[in-house]
Amino acid sequence: MALVASGSAQANQTISNADLSERVQTSDEWIRTRTGIQSRRVSTPDESLNDLAIRAGAKALEMAHWEPDTLDMVLLATSTPDDLFGSAPKVQAGLKAHNAVAFDLTAACSGFLFALVTAAQYLRTGAMQRVLVIGADQLSRFVDWDDRSTCVLFGDGAGAVALEATSAEADGLLGFRLRSDGSRGHSLTLPQIPTSLPLVNTTRHQCGGYLPIQMNGQEVYKFAVREVPAILKELLEQTSTTPEQLDWLLLHQANQRILDAVADRFSIPHSKVLSNLANYGNTSASTIPLMLDEAVRDGRVAPGHLLASSGFGAGLSWGAALLRWQGPA
Ligand code: UT7
Repeated sequence: MALVASGSAQANQTISNADLSERVQTSDEWIRTRTGIQSRRVSTPDESLNDLAIRAGAKALEMAHWEPDTLDMVLLATSTPDDLFGSAPKVQAGLKAHNAVAFDLTAACSGFLFALVTAAQYLRTGAMQRVLVIGADQLSRFVDWDDRSTCVLFGDGAGAVALEATSAEADGLLGFRLRSDGSRGHSLTLPQIPTSLPLVNTTRHQCGGYLPIQMNGQEVYKFAVREVPAILKELLEQTSTTPEQLDWLLLHQANQRILDAVADRFSIPHSKVLSNLANYGNTSASTIPLMLDEAVRDGRVAPGHLLASSGFGAGLSWGAALLRWQGPA
């Protein structure tokens, strides 16, 4: 599997820390020092998840110089679909990828990494030749904008990568590890509203709908700074790679302190840590491809570069992948 091209899309509105301090009791200083975030992008009411995903996917196809109907699959990693039955088919139609099967994959902030590894299996078996993996989320729909402990952290966005089948020697997914632990899932949830309504006679039914994001920030922080270094260590051992060989560390963008702590654990200089969360906050499944696309387009990530990536978040779920960026032909 080769990583051929990338694309991304930003939501239309920019909300600064100062803007948020007009809504909740917070300050630019608190948000910057605790998280590294300075502003985030929030979708307007007329901007759908599908819009973001289609824009990001189209840019990746353009960079790859691929006609949309040459795609075999569109895999959409999202926890915030426009339609609970699945948003990927609408994205497939919007991209005019008429020959592609399309479905959603949900694994919160690990979604993109899980989708990338899933896509690789189809490409490696020869079942497919070209796949578009999109990570897109609009957590702004599910944030309680009056809860300062969560609303300052999240934003909306989308990122995409175009993947192509390749020989085993040229495979750009050099190794991966994926983990889940539902027994710790309570520390970050977007749960159903518990309901019990009369149906007929003595029967009752539930009613669909979600509570805002619930998070124990300290628990999630401890989980991230323990599990991300551990899984990266396993990945480096599995692939006989040293931290010095890495060109970039490409982590899920949740908190600058987490990025710095993980880099320090491996003595990776902070100049090799890709970070854009100052401008976007945590955009869930989209952080990794959004960051990758930015770094590809400004030339930091170049063909042949080796990246260690790790996603982590609700589930709990986490994973790591060693990637070699190929770029377009
Ligand atoms: O994809 C995974 C998603 N989630 C994460 O990765 C989140 C991981 N966790 C974190 O990044 C950090 O735990 C946070 C940034 C969420 C919070 O930082 P913290 O250093 O763990 O702060 P805290 O929760 O211990 O709160 C410290 C204080 C509290 O006040 P008291 O009790 O000490 O008086 C909070 O009430 O800061 C207060 N606080 C705020 N103050 C100003 C919490 N949120 C805010 C805020 N503005 N927005």
